[in-house]
Amino acid sequence: MTITLTGIQPTGELHLGNYAGAIRPLAQLAADPARETYVFVADLHALNGRPDPDQLRDRVRKMVAALLACGLDHDRVHVYRQSRVPAVAQITALLANVTSKGTLNRAHAYKALVAANAAAGRDPDHGVNMGVFTYPVLMAADILAMRAHEVPVGADQAQHLEIAVELARAFARAYGPGVLHQPRAVLPQTGAVLPGLDGRKMSKSYGNTIPLFAPPAVQATLVRRVVTDSRRPQDPKDPDTLVALLDTFADPATAEEIRGRYRTGGIGYGDVKTLLAGQLDAALAPMRDRYEALLADSRRLDDALRTGERRANRRAAETVEVMVDAMGL
Ligand code: TRP
Repeated sequence: MTITLTGIQPTGELHLGNYAGAIRPLAQLAADPARETYVFVADLHALNGRPDPDQLRDRVRKMVAALLACGLDHDRVHVYRQSRVPAVAQITALLANVTSKGTLNRAHAYKALVAANAAAGRDPDHGVNMGVFTYPVLMAADILAMRAHEVPVGADQAQHLEIAVELARAFARAYGPGVLHQPRAVLPQTGAVLPGLDGRKMSKSYGNTIPLFAPPAVQATLVRRVVTDSRRPQDPKDPDTLVALLDTFADPATAEEIRGRYRTGGIGYGDVKTLLAGQLDAALAPMRDRYEALLADSRRLDDALRTGERRANRRAAETVEVMVDAMGL
């Protein structure tokens, strides 16, 4: 059995880019009967941004519902909230002792804050809490707690994974090999990046997203806003954002047909947008229905979490056991 693990920040609404780039590939990995998958909402990590408590609760719940609705709801997937596995915090405290401060000084997110402070002429530590500074240690604890073999993440998380491997090695040097398992990264294939309304990468920070679970009418309105060039229906066209969205969400025959009509000319962007909106709805409606049903019935959500968290706690407790033993506690 391969143990696959990943964590997801509770960042409000998921958009089509999150789904195509992260959630769907994860659900595909998890569908493999040779894998057991641990997926958690990184609510402890979210605290370093000091979110409003009610908003955080709401976002965590929505993220759990989204994960389950997107196909991570079978018995080889364990969905949990990071904060409900106290062993993760315990392992963070243990790992702190094999973590050199220099490693954390070099972590990108922390370095960016320090650089921004320097540029603004402020104290380098201005606005930097220890949640930010020790973020990579907590992430290493997430991974090592579950003795994960592979950790699928976006390219932006590559350094965090390297640090997790570094801490596992440091622990092995100090306390012997065979206590912690060394994980490996599974970085996304190139091409997993979906363009947004303006043609740049779909991203919340660009404000160019289409929400995954918005009502079909809202999605259709946003599809109308996808930026196109001024070519007329009869003109040949280059593959664009609309084609990328069709490739990702439409049935393959339809996507291929539209690609053909782009090459030869003979279809207008307005018609492509109408078709795309319909294809999106066909692809997403079943997930949207499951998502709404999960949020409406808290029992099903709570049941899934209870099962996932029991499982995660059991596995993490075994890791703590071998670690404290190795460390002489
Ligand atoms: N840092 C990750 C992100 O921002 C989320 C995360 C937390 C994570 N712990 C993890 C991912 C452990 C993989 C494994 O996307």
